Amino acid sequence: MAKLAQILAEIKAEHPLLEAVEERLREQVAGSHLAARLARSLLDGGGKRLRPILTIVAASFYPLPEKAVVDAAVAGELIHLASLVHDDIIDNAHMRRGQPTINDLWGNQVSVLTGDHLFATAFSLLADLPKPTVLRSMTQAIRLMCEGEIEEILRAYRPDQTEADYFRCIEKKTAQLLAACCQSGALLVDAPFDQLEALGNYGLRLGCAFQIIDDILDLTAQADELGKPVRWDFQQGIFTLPILYARRHSPHGDELTRLVLTGQHGRAGRLLDRMLREEDAILYAWQEAARQVRMAEKALRVLPPHPARNYLRSLAAGLLEQGPLEHHLLAFSNYP
Ligand code: IPE
Ligand code: IPE
Ligand code: MG
Ligand code: MG
Repeated sequence: MAKLAQILAEIKAEHPLLEAVEERLREQVAGSHLAARLARSLLDGGGKRLRPILTIVAASFYPLPEKAVVDAAVAGELIHLASLVHDDIIDNAHMRRGQPTINDLWGNQVSVLTGDHLFATAFSLLADLPKPTVLRSMTQAIRLMCEGEIEEILRAYRPDQTEADYFRCIEKKTAQLLAACCQSGALLVDAPFDQLEALGNYGLRLGCAFQIIDDILDLTAQADELGKPVRWDFQQGIFTLPILYARRHSPHGDELTRLVLTGQHGRAGRLLDRMLREEDAILYAWQEAARQVRMAEKALRVLPPHPARNYLRSLAAGLLEQGPLEHHLLAFSNYP
């Protein structure tokens, strides 16, 4: 099984349209206005371009209308960027893609509006597509993303938050956009309905696996490895899957909740580390991500045999081998 970064590089090498995506992205954020300059700095910071990759690969099962597919892919990345800008305000985060966030440099006012600016740029691309259904599916994904972020805020500090709450949230805040990006590609090439549905299911399962791994890394990695702050959600009383699992199984679960609720971050962090190891909670969450990956792979069976299907399969499998993950799984294991 190859690492995610390797698979993404392979897909980029195989799909020259991704170069066009990069150029079109730059075009969309051209100009001297501060909003455009801030958007460019976000692009310069890197990013995996996972959402445009999904649109392009999903469209490549059939002969594709290049301009429309590139524009839809670019819109997916712009929506993602807008959501990151807003998420960093919500999470009070000061680093993203290894750089200071827009809210850190310019405050929340400029930052909200820069996010809105990016959303509007995406909508204007989507409005010009030959298929209005793409706009509809993207805007529905954004609505669900907002609902997911709101639900996450509402469950903060609630001692009764459950793994079911967590799964509902991540499907809305992360997976729905990935599903919509896959479906945009399929809609633009008039893929048959069962394939459109399969790509939607694939995107949902992929997105859940993706967020679970992101949440694992948030607990096991250092901020400089990820280019973004770690453990902020935990300190804000938002418990991700490994924490919910450890809390449910450990005799120290109530104590952990109490420390977080009373703002004793140092002690809470040390107890959490111990509980994650004792309960093998990181391994458990990784296995849940692996289960989502298997469901994503299963969804792909409906699609015709094609190199694009293999790429989507490798992409899902590669999520489980992201960056330093393997090392972290060992470091957080209960077995000496
Ligand atoms: C970060 O997404 C937000 C989540 C949904 C976890 P990515 O990990 O795709 O961010 P970039 O685009 O690569 O920076
Ligand atoms: C993902 O949530 C953000 C969106 C889906 C908008 P997180 O808050 O966990 O993402 P990161 O860790 O900041 O990238
Ligand atoms: Mg965040
Ligand atoms: Mg967040």
